[in-house]
Amino acid sequence: MSDFYTMGIETSCDDSCVAILKNDRELLVNLISSQIDIHTLFGGVVPEIASRKHLEAINPLIDKALNETNLSYDDIDLISVTKGPGLMGSLLVGISAAKALSLATNTPMIGANHMRGHICANYLVNKDLKPPFVSLVVSGGHTYLVKVKGYTDYEIVGKTRDDAAGESFDKVARKMGLGYPGGPKIDKIAKKGNKEAVVFPRVMLEKDSYDFSFSGLKTAVINYMHQLEQKDEELNKADIAASFEEAVVDVLVEKSMRLIGETGYNKLAVSGGVAANSRLKERLEVACKEKDIKFYYPSLELCTDNAAMIAMTGYLDYKSGQRSNKFMKVYPNLEL
Ligand code: KG4
Ligand code: ZN
Repeated sequence: MSDFYTMGIETSCDDSCVAILKNDRELLVNLISSQIDIHTLFGGVVPEIASRKHLEAINPLIDKALNETNLSYDDIDLISVTKGPGLMGSLLVGISAAKALSLATNTPMIGANHMRGHICANYLVNKDLKPPFVSLVVSGGHTYLVKVKGYTDYEIVGKTRDDAAGESFDKVARKMGLGYPGGPKIDKIAKKGNKEAVVFPRVMLEKDSYDFSFSGLKTAVINYMHQLEQKDEELNKADIAASFEEAVVDVLVEKSMRLIGETGYNKLAVSGGVAANSRLKERLEVACKEKDIKFYYPSLELCTDNAAMIAMTGYLDYKSGQRSNKFMKVYPNLEL
């Protein structure tokens, strides 16, 4: 049987990404053109700038991906593009590029769900991972606890009722003046801090609930900083970062392990930008070991937004018989 090549295109937020996947899980190239430098100037992503930057970046990235793999347009068997969730103007750039390419080269195209993509990033790194498993999906805009029952069969069991986990990292970091995106900055300085310095709330919601709520925690951290400022007391940013991070991680670990217990599944895969967090991985690793659960996580570059995960998801959807066509829309609020 001849090889099957999937091109992934991802432009849902502030990174323009193109990747090529060979057959099932072999990643040939994974390109990211980051816009962080420009958005940092504004303290967060400016949608209008993001879509204009995608427009400049996307075609050269597609050419580069083909050049680096010595493939031509004719070799590509499937184009998988993020259809949502994400910023409307950003998504439109990727989808328009994919549609044009698909029509011009007569190649099938499929619209991929970005959040499912984060979960599928795990398959690229962990070749032995097969459903069923529990996935904790923690990104800048979403927080989900999911039963992954099959390669295209997902059941959302819990999600955030207000801020996403990554969003709380970004907002707390912003208040601390650490810059955007805040997650990696907090991760770094928290290592030097005392996680027991301040006791911030762990919001567990109703006893049986798998939902999350991080906005109260964010407010508690910001209020605490205000109080210190008013009293003119010195802020120990490392201690605050470590105490905040521990509060987020406590909730994520507790709920993930409870779902593992309830489902009886013996695998947990974390994914999304916050899966890059070193303390979260450390704690999940220990909790899984105690219960004899196999713990999976993507490599750092596959935790945050990338097109490899979009190629992987699209490939699985296509193999299960799903198809998209030139009338495909964008879905800025798509659920997992
Ligand atoms: O998945 P992602 O790249 O984009 C979205 O789909 O949202 O996630 C970005 C989020 C940001 O909120 C960022 O601060 C967070 O992931 N993040 C981290 C770390 N690296 C990225 N949060 C905590 N610790 C990290 N090391
Ligand atoms: Zn993402």
